[in-house]
Amino acid sequence: METIIQNTPVRNEQTDFLPLEGTDHVEFYVGNAKQAAHFYKTAFGFQGLAYAGPETGCKDKASYVVRQNKLTFVFTTPVRSHNPIADHIYKHGDGVKVLALKVDDAKDAWLQTTRRGAKSYLEPVTHKDDAGEVVLSGIHIYGDTVHLFVERKNYKGVFMPGYRKWESVYNPPETGLLYVDHCVGNVGWNQMDPWVMFYQDVMGFRNILSFDDNDISTEYSALMSKVMSNGNGFVKFPINEPAEGKKKSQIEEYLDYYDGEGCQHVALATADIVKTVTELQSRGIEFLKVPTSYYDDLLDRVGHIDEDLEPLKEMGILVDRDEEGYLLQIFTKPVEDRPTLFFEIIQRKGAKSFGKGNFKALFEAIEREQEERGNL
Ligand code: FE2
Repeated sequence: METIIQNTPVRNEQTDFLPLEGTDHVEFYVGNAKQAAHFYKTAFGFQGLAYAGPETGCKDKASYVVRQNKLTFVFTTPVRSHNPIADHIYKHGDGVKVLALKVDDAKDAWLQTTRRGAKSYLEPVTHKDDAGEVVLSGIHIYGDTVHLFVERKNYKGVFMPGYRKWESVYNPPETGLLYVDHCVGNVGWNQMDPWVMFYQDVMGFRNILSFDDNDISTEYSALMSKVMSNGNGFVKFPINEPAEGKKKSQIEEYLDYYDGEGCQHVALATADIVKTVTELQSRGIEFLKVPTSYYDDLLDRVGHIDEDLEPLKEMGILVDRDEEGYLLQIFTKPVEDRPTLFFEIIQRKGAKSFGKGNFKALFEAIEREQEERGNL
Protein backbone atom coordinates (compact mmCIF):
# COMPACT_ATOMS: atom_id res chain seq x y z
CA MET A 1 0.00 0.00 0.00
CA GLU A 2 1.03 3.57 -0.54
CA THR A 3 2.54 5.01 2.59
CA ILE A 4 3.04 8.71 2.79
CA ILE A 5 5.69 9.09 5.40
CA GLN A 6 6.28 12.75 4.87
CA ASN A 7 4.70 14.61 2.02
CA THR A 8 6.49 17.92 2.01
CA PRO A 9 10.07 17.56 3.08
CA VAL A 10 11.22 20.66 4.92
CA ARG A 11 14.81 21.71 4.71
CA ASN A 12 16.44 21.92 8.06
CA GLU A 13 19.73 23.80 7.89
CA GLN A 14 20.82 22.29 11.18
CA THR A 15 20.44 18.67 10.17
CA ASP A 16 20.79 18.76 6.37
CA PHE A 17 24.44 17.80 6.13
CA LEU A 18 24.21 17.63 2.33
CA PRO A 19 22.34 20.72 1.11
CA LEU A 20 21.59 20.28 -2.60
CA GLU A 21 20.59 23.14 -4.89
CA GLY A 22 19.12 20.76 -7.48
CA THR A 23 20.22 18.68 -10.44
CA ASP A 24 23.25 20.26 -12.12
CA HIS A 25 23.31 18.01 -15.17
CA VAL A 26 22.85 14.45 -16.40
CA GLU A 27 25.75 12.90 -18.32
CA PHE A 28 25.15 10.04 -20.73
CA TYR A 29 27.89 7.75 -22.04
CA VAL A 30 26.94 7.04 -25.64
CA GLY A 31 28.39 5.34 -28.70
CA ASN A 32 28.28 8.50 -30.78
CA ALA A 33 27.99 11.79 -28.91
CA LYS A 34 27.84 13.92 -32.04
CA GLN A 35 24.76 12.08 -33.26
CA ALA A 36 23.19 11.84 -29.79
CA ALA A 37 23.46 15.61 -29.36
CA HIS A 38 21.84 16.07 -32.75
CA PHE A 39 18.97 13.77 -31.73
CA TYR A 40 18.33 15.58 -28.45
CA LYS A 41 18.41 18.95 -30.24
CA THR A 42 16.13 17.78 -33.04
CA ALA A 43 13.68 15.61 -31.15
CA PHE A 44 13.61 17.17 -27.67
CA GLY A 45 14.46 20.79 -28.54
CA PHE A 46 17.69 21.12 -26.57
CA GLN A 47 20.08 23.93 -27.54
CA GLY A 48 23.79 23.47 -28.11
CA LEU A 49 25.79 24.93 -25.21
CA ALA A 50 29.36 23.64 -24.92
CA TYR A 51 31.84 21.18 -26.37
CA ALA A 52 35.02 19.48 -25.16
CA GLY A 53 37.09 17.09 -27.24
CA PRO A 54 40.40 16.62 -29.00
CA GLU A 55 40.15 20.19 -30.36
CA THR A 56 40.01 21.60 -26.82
CA GLY A 57 42.84 19.45 -25.48
CA CYS A 58 40.70 16.57 -24.29
CA LYS A 59 42.49 13.62 -25.89
CA ASP A 60 40.35 10.60 -24.99
CA LYS A 61 36.76 11.72 -25.31
CA ALA A 62 34.33 14.15 -26.85
CA SER A 63 31.47 15.73 -24.87
CA TYR A 64 28.58 17.80 -26.17
CA VAL A 65 26.55 19.83 -23.67
CA VAL A 66 22.98 20.78 -24.52
CA ARG A 67 20.50 22.80 -22.50
CA GLN A 68 16.81 23.60 -22.29
CA ASN A 69 15.74 25.90 -19.45
CA LYS A 70 17.15 24.26 -16.28
CA LEU A 71 17.86 20.95 -18.00
CA THR A 72 21.47 20.29 -18.92
CA PHE A 73 22.45 17.05 -20.65
CA VAL A 74 26.02 16.02 -21.49
CA PHE A 75 26.71 13.36 -24.13
CA THR A 76 30.15 11.82 -23.88
CA THR A 77 31.82 9.29 -26.14
CA PRO A 78 35.33 7.83 -26.14
CA VAL A 79 37.40 8.64 -29.22
CA ARG A 80 39.55 5.52 -28.69
CA SER A 81 38.96 1.96 -27.46
CA HIS A 82 40.20 0.37 -24.24
CA ASN A 83 39.27 2.96 -21.64
CA PRO A 84 36.59 3.15 -18.92
CA ILE A 85 34.10 5.06 -21.11
CA ALA A 86 34.43 2.56 -23.98
CA ASP A 87 34.08 -0.32 -21.50
CA HIS A 88 30.97 1.30 -20.00
CA ILE A 89 29.31 1.50 -23.42
CA TYR A 90 30.39 -2.06 -24.36
CA LYS A 91 28.71 -3.36 -21.20
CA HIS A 92 25.66 -1.12 -20.84
CA GLY A 93 25.01 0.40 -24.23
CA ASP A 94 24.04 4.08 -24.15
CA GLY A 95 22.98 5.13 -20.68
CA VAL A 96 23.21 7.53 -17.78
CA LYS A 97 26.64 7.62 -16.14
CA VAL A 98 26.43 10.75 -14.00
CA LEU A 99 23.58 12.27 -11.99
CA ALA A 100 25.30 15.55 -11.11
CA LEU A 101 24.05 17.55 -8.15
CA LYS A 102 24.66 21.25 -7.64
CA VAL A 103 26.14 22.09 -4.25
CA ASP A 104 27.59 25.10 -2.49
CA ASP A 105 30.65 23.17 -1.32
CA ALA A 106 31.77 20.14 -3.34
CA LYS A 107 34.60 19.29 -0.97
CA ASP A 108 32.27 19.20 2.02
CA ALA A 109 29.68 17.14 0.07
CA TRP A 110 32.40 14.58 -0.64
CA LEU A 111 33.63 14.59 2.98
CA GLN A 112 30.11 14.28 4.43
CA THR A 113 29.14 11.38 2.16
CA THR A 114 32.40 9.41 2.14
CA ARG A 115 32.59 9.78 5.92
CA ARG A 116 29.17 8.10 6.06
CA GLY A 117 30.25 5.20 3.88
CA ALA A 118 30.00 6.36 0.24
CA LYS A 119 32.65 4.93 -2.08
CA SER A 120 34.66 7.77 -3.63
CA TYR A 121 34.51 8.17 -7.40
CA LEU A 122 36.35 11.48 -7.61
CA GLU A 123 38.25 13.23 -4.85
CA PRO A 124 37.58 16.97 -4.73
CA VAL A 125 39.38 18.69 -7.59
CA THR A 126 39.35 22.34 -8.73
CA HIS A 127 39.31 23.15 -12.44
CA LYS A 128 40.14 26.73 -13.43
CA ASP A 129 40.09 28.88 -16.53
CA ASP A 130 39.67 32.58 -17.34
CA ALA A 131 36.00 32.45 -16.29
CA GLY A 132 36.70 31.22 -12.76
CA GLU A 133 36.70 27.83 -11.12
CA VAL A 134 34.52 24.77 -10.69
CA VAL A 135 35.08 22.30 -7.87
CA LEU A 136 34.03 18.70 -8.59
CA SER A 137 33.86 15.58 -6.45
CA GLY A 138 31.98 12.32 -6.82
CA ILE A 139 30.71 9.13 -5.23
CA HIS A 140 29.55 5.78 -6.59
CA ILE A 141 25.89 4.79 -6.48
CA TYR A 142 24.06 1.75 -7.93
CA GLY A 143 25.74 -0.19 -10.73
CA ASP A 144 28.35 1.89 -12.55
CA THR A 145 26.36 5.08 -11.99
CA VAL A 146 27.81 7.98 -9.99
CA HIS A 147 26.82 11.24 -8.33
CA LEU A 148 29.04 14.19 -9.13
CA PHE A 149 28.92 17.17 -6.77
CA VAL A 150 29.35 20.39 -8.74
CA GLU A 151 30.30 23.67 -7.05
CA ARG A 152 30.09 26.42 -9.65
CA LYS A 153 29.42 29.55 -7.55
CA ASN A 154 32.77 31.02 -8.64
CA TYR A 155 32.35 30.25 -12.31
CA LYS A 156 31.02 32.57 -15.03
CA GLY A 157 31.89 30.46 -18.08
CA VAL A 158 29.54 28.61 -20.39
CA PHE A 159 29.71 25.18 -18.65
CA MET A 160 33.01 24.17 -17.05
CA PRO A 161 36.72 24.72 -17.57
CA GLY A 162 37.86 22.53 -20.47
CA TYR A 163 34.70 23.23 -22.49
CA ARG A 164 34.27 25.84 -25.18
CA LYS A 165 31.05 27.45 -26.29
CA TRP A 166 29.31 25.35 -28.91
CA GLU A 167 27.74 27.53 -31.55
CA SER A 168 25.75 25.83 -34.25
CA VAL A 169 23.76 27.09 -37.20
CA TYR A 170 21.19 24.38 -36.40
CA ASN A 171 18.98 25.44 -33.51
CA PRO A 172 15.55 23.75 -33.53
CA PRO A 173 12.97 25.41 -31.27
CA GLU A 174 12.56 24.23 -27.68
CA THR A 175 9.69 21.94 -26.67
CA GLY A 176 8.85 23.41 -23.26
CA LEU A 177 10.93 21.03 -21.14
CA LEU A 178 11.92 22.79 -17.91
CA TYR A 179 13.87 20.78 -15.34
CA VAL A 180 14.54 17.29 -13.96
CA ASP A 181 11.58 16.26 -11.79
CA HIS A 182 13.08 12.94 -10.67
CA CYS A 183 15.52 10.21 -11.77
CA VAL A 184 14.65 6.57 -11.20
CA GLY A 185 17.15 3.80 -10.51
CA ASN A 186 16.59 0.10 -11.18
CA VAL A 187 18.42 -2.15 -8.72
CA GLY A 188 18.67 -5.93 -8.35
CA TRP A 189 16.67 -8.41 -6.26
CA ASN A 190 16.58 -7.38 -2.58
CA GLN A 191 18.67 -4.30 -3.31
CA MET A 192 15.99 -1.62 -2.92
CA ASP A 193 16.22 -1.39 0.86
CA PRO A 194 20.04 -1.25 0.96
CA TRP A 195 19.89 1.67 -1.52
CA VAL A 196 17.11 3.32 0.48
CA MET A 197 19.42 3.08 3.50
CA PHE A 198 22.27 4.50 1.42
CA TYR A 199 20.25 7.58 0.48
CA GLN A 200 19.07 7.89 4.06
CA ASP A 201 22.35 7.42 5.89
CA VAL A 202 24.93 8.61 3.38
CA MET A 203 23.01 11.40 1.61
CA GLY A 204 20.56 12.47 4.35
CA PHE A 205 17.50 11.79 2.15
CA ARG A 206 14.08 10.70 3.38
CA ASN A 207 11.77 7.98 2.14
CA ILE A 208 8.65 9.95 1.11
CA LEU A 209 6.65 7.21 -0.64
CA SER A 210 6.70 3.42 -0.79
CA PHE A 211 4.98 1.08 -3.21
CA ASP A 212 4.96 -2.67 -2.71
CA ASP A 213 4.24 -5.37 -5.26
CA ASN A 214 0.50 -5.19 -4.52
CA ASP A 215 0.50 -1.58 -5.73
CA ILE A 216 2.66 -2.26 -8.75
CA SER A 217 1.60 -5.50 -10.27
CA THR A 218 -0.36 -6.65 -13.27
CA GLU A 219 -1.61 -10.10 -14.06
CA TYR A 220 1.93 -11.03 -15.08
CA SER A 221 4.69 -9.06 -13.46
CA ALA A 222 5.54 -6.90 -10.49
CA LEU A 223 7.99 -4.47 -9.00
CA MET A 224 8.54 -2.55 -5.78
CA SER A 225 9.55 1.08 -5.43
CA LYS A 226 10.57 3.59 -2.77
CA VAL A 227 10.95 7.31 -3.40
CA MET A 228 13.86 9.09 -1.72
CA SER A 229 13.91 12.88 -1.44
CA ASN A 230 16.53 15.30 -0.20
CA GLY A 231 15.76 17.82 2.52
CA ASN A 232 14.38 20.66 0.35
CA GLY A 233 12.57 18.25 -2.02
CA PHE A 234 14.48 19.51 -5.08
CA VAL A 235 16.09 16.13 -5.72
CA LYS A 236 14.07 12.91 -5.82
CA PHE A 237 15.35 9.43 -6.58
CA PRO A 238 12.80 6.61 -6.71
CA ILE A 239 14.46 3.18 -6.45
CA ASN A 240 12.83 0.13 -8.10
CA GLU A 241 13.52 -3.55 -7.65
CA PRO A 242 11.85 -6.46 -9.42
CA ALA A 243 9.24 -8.58 -7.64
CA GLU A 244 8.06 -12.13 -8.30
CA GLY A 245 5.24 -12.42 -10.79
CA LYS A 246 3.95 -15.02 -13.20
CA LYS A 247 6.26 -13.61 -15.84
CA LYS A 248 9.37 -11.49 -16.07
CA SER A 249 9.33 -8.08 -14.39
CA GLN A 250 10.12 -5.09 -16.58
CA ILE A 251 12.88 -4.33 -14.06
CA GLU A 252 14.47 -7.73 -14.75
CA GLU A 253 14.34 -7.03 -18.47
CA TYR A 254 16.17 -3.76 -17.84
CA LEU A 255 18.78 -5.43 -15.61
CA ASP A 256 19.38 -8.09 -18.27
CA TYR A 257 19.83 -5.66 -21.12
CA TYR A 258 21.70 -2.95 -19.22
CA ASP A 259 23.81 -5.76 -17.79
CA GLY A 260 23.40 -4.43 -14.27
CA GLU A 261 21.78 -1.75 -12.20
CA GLY A 262 21.32 1.73 -13.60
CA CYS A 263 19.10 4.69 -14.32
CA GLN A 264 15.72 3.59 -15.71
CA HIS A 265 14.12 6.92 -16.50
CA VAL A 266 14.57 10.63 -16.11
CA ALA A 267 11.36 12.62 -15.62
CA LEU A 268 11.34 15.98 -17.39
CA ALA A 269 8.92 18.66 -16.21
CA THR A 270 6.80 20.83 -18.49
CA ALA A 271 4.22 23.53 -17.76
CA ASP A 272 2.06 22.49 -20.73
CA ILE A 273 2.16 18.76 -21.38
CA VAL A 274 -0.27 18.84 -24.31
CA LYS A 275 1.86 21.37 -26.15
CA THR A 276 5.15 19.64 -25.27
CA VAL A 277 3.98 16.15 -26.23
CA THR A 278 2.38 17.39 -29.47
CA GLU A 279 5.75 18.88 -30.37
CA LEU A 280 7.77 15.82 -29.31
CA GLN A 281 5.51 13.47 -31.28
CA SER A 282 5.79 15.61 -34.39
CA ARG A 283 9.56 15.32 -34.06
CA GLY A 284 9.48 11.54 -33.91
CA ILE A 285 9.48 10.71 -30.19
CA GLU A 286 7.45 7.54 -29.58
CA PHE A 287 5.35 7.16 -26.45
CA LEU A 288 3.78 4.21 -24.69
CA LYS A 289 0.09 3.93 -25.41
CA VAL A 290 -2.61 2.89 -22.98
CA PRO A 291 -5.91 1.50 -24.31
CA THR A 292 -8.50 4.22 -24.96
CA SER A 293 -10.72 2.53 -22.35
CA TYR A 294 -8.37 4.16 -19.79
CA TYR A 295 -10.19 7.43 -20.56
CA ASP A 296 -13.74 6.09 -20.27
CA ASP A 297 -13.98 6.64 -16.52
CA LEU A 298 -10.95 8.88 -16.06
CA LEU A 299 -12.89 11.89 -14.78
CA ASP A 300 -14.76 9.68 -12.30
CA ARG A 301 -11.38 8.57 -10.98
CA VAL A 302 -9.57 11.92 -10.86
CA GLY A 303 -12.35 14.51 -10.73
CA HIS A 304 -12.29 17.81 -12.58
CA ILE A 305 -9.19 18.68 -14.61
CA ASP A 306 -8.48 21.89 -16.52
CA GLU A 307 -7.47 20.10 -19.73
CA ASP A 308 -9.74 18.84 -22.49
CA LEU A 309 -9.99 15.07 -22.41
CA GLU A 310 -9.78 14.56 -26.17
CA PRO A 311 -6.12 15.61 -26.76
CA LEU A 312 -5.05 13.64 -23.66
CA LYS A 313 -6.76 10.57 -25.07
CA GLU A 314 -5.32 11.09 -28.52
CA MET A 315 -1.76 11.35 -27.22
CA GLY A 316 -2.07 8.83 -24.39
CA ILE A 317 -1.36 11.29 -21.57
CA LEU A 318 -2.15 9.82 -18.13
CA VAL A 319 -3.71 11.66 -15.19
CA ASP A 320 -3.56 10.92 -11.47
CA ARG A 321 -4.67 12.78 -8.36
CA ASP A 322 -3.43 12.86 -4.78
CA GLU A 323 -4.44 14.91 -1.73
CA GLU A 324 -2.70 18.02 -3.02
CA GLY A 325 -3.70 18.16 -6.65
CA TYR A 326 -3.21 16.22 -9.84
CA LEU A 327 -0.49 15.42 -12.33
CA LEU A 328 -0.30 14.57 -16.01
CA GLN A 329 2.37 12.19 -17.28
CA ILE A 330 3.44 10.16 -20.29
CA PHE A 331 6.37 7.83 -20.92
CA THR A 332 8.51 7.48 -24.02
CA LYS A 333 9.54 4.14 -25.39
CA PRO A 334 13.21 3.36 -24.68
CA VAL A 335 15.38 5.87 -26.56
CA GLU A 336 17.95 3.29 -27.63
CA ASP A 337 17.72 -0.23 -29.08
CA ARG A 338 18.29 -1.93 -25.74
CA PRO A 339 15.06 -1.78 -23.69
CA THR A 340 16.75 0.34 -21.03
CA LEU A 341 16.59 4.13 -20.55
CA PHE A 342 13.42 6.09 -21.31
CA PHE A 343 11.99 9.48 -20.39
CA GLU A 344 8.86 10.60 -18.58
CA ILE A 345 7.23 13.92 -19.39
CA ILE A 346 5.38 15.26 -16.34
CA GLN A 347 3.23 18.27 -15.56
CA ARG A 348 2.40 18.75 -11.90
CA LYS A 349 -0.73 20.66 -10.92
CA GLY A 350 -0.30 20.49 -7.18
CA ALA A 351 0.31 16.75 -6.90
CA LYS A 352 3.63 15.74 -5.37
CA SER A 353 3.22 12.00 -5.98
CA PHE A 354 4.25 9.79 -8.89
CA GLY A 355 1.11 8.58 -10.62
CA LYS A 356 0.29 5.48 -8.58
CA GLY A 357 -3.19 5.32 -10.13
CA ASN A 358 -1.56 4.87 -13.54
CA PHE A 359 0.82 2.08 -12.65
CA LYS A 360 -1.40 -0.76 -13.77
CA ALA A 361 -2.37 0.76 -17.14
CA LEU A 362 1.21 1.80 -17.68
CA PHE A 363 2.80 -1.52 -16.83
CA GLU A 364 0.36 -3.35 -19.03
CA ALA A 365 1.48 -1.06 -21.86
CA ILE A 366 5.12 -1.89 -21.05
CA GLU A 367 4.31 -5.60 -20.99
CA ARG A 368 2.83 -5.41 -24.48
CA GLU A 369 6.20 -4.03 -25.61
CA GLN A 370 8.12 -6.68 -23.61
CA GLU A 371 5.98 -9.37 -25.21
CA GLU A 372 6.85 -8.05 -28.67
CA ARG A 373 10.55 -8.27 -27.77
CA GLY A 374 10.03 -11.83 -26.54
CA ASN A 375 11.01 -10.88 -22.99
CA LEU A 376 7.86 -11.39 -21.00
FE1 FE2 B 1 8.73 8.60 -12.91
